[in-house]
Amino acid sequence: MQNTTSPSHLTVEPSILYFGTPVVLLSTENEDGTFNLAPMSSAWALGQVIVLGLGSDGQTARNLSTRPDLVISLPSPQQWRAVEQLAPLTGRDPVPTGKRDRFRYEADKFGAAGLRPQPSELVRPPRVAECPLQFEGRASQVRPDATGGFLIVEARVLRVHAAPQILVPGTEHIDPAQWSPLIYNFRHYHGLTTELGHSFRSETPRRTHDPAPHTAGPSTPPQPDATRGPALSAGTRSGSRAPAGARRPPHGYGTRRRPHLRRSR
Ligand SMILES: Cc1cc2nc3c(=O)[nH]c(=O)nc-3n(C[C@H](O)[C@H](O)[C@H](O)COP(=O)(O)O)c2cc1C
Repeated sequence: MQNTTSPSHLTVEPSILYFGTPVVLLSTENEDGTFNLAPMSSAWALGQVIVLGLGSDGQTARNLSTRPDLVISLPSPQQWRAVEQLAPLTGRDPVPTGKRDRFRYEADKFGAAGLRPQPSELVRPPRVAECPLQFEGRASQVRPDATGGFLIVEARVLRVHAAPQILVPGTEHIDPAQWSPLIYNFRHYHGLTTELGHSFRSETPRRTHDPAPHTAGPSTPPQPDATRGPALSAGTRSGSRAPAGARRPPHGYGTRRRPHLRRSR
């Protein structure tokens, strides 16, 4: 810890800056036609594009440099142990020098984490069957970052698969009351807590919390989010019924209703 710079903050030099982003499991294809699976958290979405930050010495970076197909599977908080099973593994053989002290080579990452590969529809790498939200995509740009230690990957999402339990019924909206990402917060795993409010652009607003400051109306104390059902547990299959105890949010969303959604294979 360094000197103080103000009465309210200290100047510090933390070894990592992972301030809490969702964990994704990235499936890619190896040279020999088998598939690799790597946890990562430097990922963010903009429209239908997902930007990924990857250490350039990993097998995933190597795969995406030559084979652009990928799947981004999003685990729920209950699946953190499966993610952590993957944490000390690399699909690169031999293990790069810089990783030898803490990582070991594993050819079957799905098996090592107890996760099931589920065939994709548009790309070769498989989805993670247990993950409630899965994006099939293709890297459209792979380039080194400014330091040379990382690759910045821009991936276009081609198809989205969602477990029925996390959708607003009859629509194509992901229901934030039913879906929670697994958050990697300074190398600790967290889930989301109670909803605080929503953006003015939300297409799935509910009236279970304080109005936003600019909104007219009387202020009420924060309400516990009674509609947040338990997130899907590991092993929940796409297409199965909502887990016991999961409650549906009240209807009345101002949403596009699509009664005949196609079921992912
Ligand atoms: C929760 C979690 C998040 C991670 N986030 C990233 C990340 O954003 N980028 C990255 O390059 N590595 C990340 N890692 C480390 C990689 O998973 C690790 O380097 C792994 O060995 C890569 O596997 P591969 O060599 O088979 O591609 C993360 C690891 C964990 C457990």
